[in-house]
Amino acid sequence: MEIRSTADGDLDVFVDTVHAAFGRFPEAPIEGGGLWWSALEIDRCLLALTADGRPVGTAAAYSFELTLPGETLVPAAGVTAVGVLPSHRRQGILSAMMRHQLAELRARGEFLSVLLASEAQIYGRFGYGPATYTARLTVPRHEAALAVPRARGVADAPATGSANGSVEVLRRAECGEILEEVYDRYRRTQPGALSRPHRWWALRAGQPPISPAPRYVAVHRGADGVPDGYASYSIGEPGTLTVDETIATDDAVFTALARFVLGHDLVSQVVFKHVPPEHPLRWQLADFRAGEVSGDTDWLWVRLLDVPRALTARGWFMDGELVLDVEDPFLGEHGRYLLTVRDSKADCVPTDREPDLSLDMRDLGSVYLGGTAPSTLVRAGHIRAHRPGAAALADALFRAERSPHCLHWF
Ligand SMILES: CC(C)(COP(=O)(O)OP(=O)(O)OC[C@H]1O[C@@H](n2cnc3c(N)ncnc32)[C@H](O)[C@@H]1OP(=O)(O)O)[C@@H](O)C(=O)NCCC(=O)NCCS
Repeated sequence: MEIRSTADGDLDVFVDTVHAAFGRFPEAPIEGGGLWWSALEIDRCLLALTADGRPVGTAAAYSFELTLPGETLVPAAGVTAVGVLPSHRRQGILSAMMRHQLAELRARGEFLSVLLASEAQIYGRFGYGPATYTARLTVPRHEAALAVPRARGVADAPATGSANGSVEVLRRAECGEILEEVYDRYRRTQPGALSRPHRWWALRAGQPPISPAPRYVAVHRGADGVPDGYASYSIGEPGTLTVDETIATDDAVFTALARFVLGHDLVSQVVFKHVPPEHPLRWQLADFRAGEVSGDTDWLWVRLLDVPRALTARGWFMDGELVLDVEDPFLGEHGRYLLTVRDSKADCVPTDREPDLSLDMRDLGSVYLGGTAPSTLVRAGHIRAHRPGAAALADALFRAERSPHCLHWF
């Protein structure tokens, strides 16, 4: 078995092998991979080949920027196009590709890798843990009234737009660079969000609203006329308005967009496809039970490749000290680190002090963005707390300014 990087000219073979692994052959080979696959970075694709040179496995990585708690932007490899031909499964090909890929990411100086998992059983063994979550919120339109904000000094938004803002409905093709610019502003402050490289928008690769599929886009503009949010949606039978993405640069803009779609005529229900845990929208409904949460699922999985670099890169919101004993069985590594947070900055150094928590790399990936409480994994029997109070301290330390969320599909 050989694993090698692809080069120009390999794209068709790579894409054909991915299609075969996923069991979804297109009618005819798509030259140049088609819109979606042409977003691949050819120097970051791997092919696994048999001794006689037949391609049987694929894996690739995109160069993304990930927003960490504290509005810190760091490079992250977005692992994608992972597949092994059905005829060659359970022979260790994926494991070999993962090993190869992690070594390559480190050689590039990257310290975080992320992915979306087709099945939740695959990636934990390679050190990835689920780190962000998302759910659908369905609201019947006749129950969709929003409550008047109770905090003093918070204005209730008018029927369309936030204070002095406006909403305009555009077709996807009319949006020009607006969506890209708004998304880019949004993702810089949202922990867990990924950049969408310009190339993706230009190719209209990926899921709505960047796919070529027809969509309406409600674009919100502030009083100065500058776009600061959008909701991309479609209306299907039976009277369901489905919002793929609600991207807002602040909460008032989100509320204005929610109010707009919830007030849409000739619609019986509105489905928000991607709502993170603890999102205020449910609390904004006058009838708390009007919003039905379903399809609660993991989204972004995270793997750390360098614990001190990763822990010092993110922002922290309270002072504290923890000794973490981290086991990385896939890479056969082990480290014990003293994490000290002072004035929102962390220091992380090897130590031989007694640990507060012992954990597997996958569990560190899960808690890293603040979307999974360490105490939950202690209670689940995955993280070991060595003293009373250690889990509660870890919960308080790792928490982010708000739930991490990623709605980018790759
Ligand atoms: C997922 C996939 C890539 C695994 O490839 P593979 O070469 O068979 O994996 P490996 O042989 O290296 O398996 C390593 C271990 O993971 C386990 N494993 C692999 N895929 C698994 C799955 N889908 N569910 C549960 N366990 C799985 C294997 O049993 C093996 O366990 P072991 O070490 O205890 O024996 C392959 O099944 C595939 O192409 N599936 C369809 C496409 C897909 O879902 N890709 C993932 C996209 S995110």
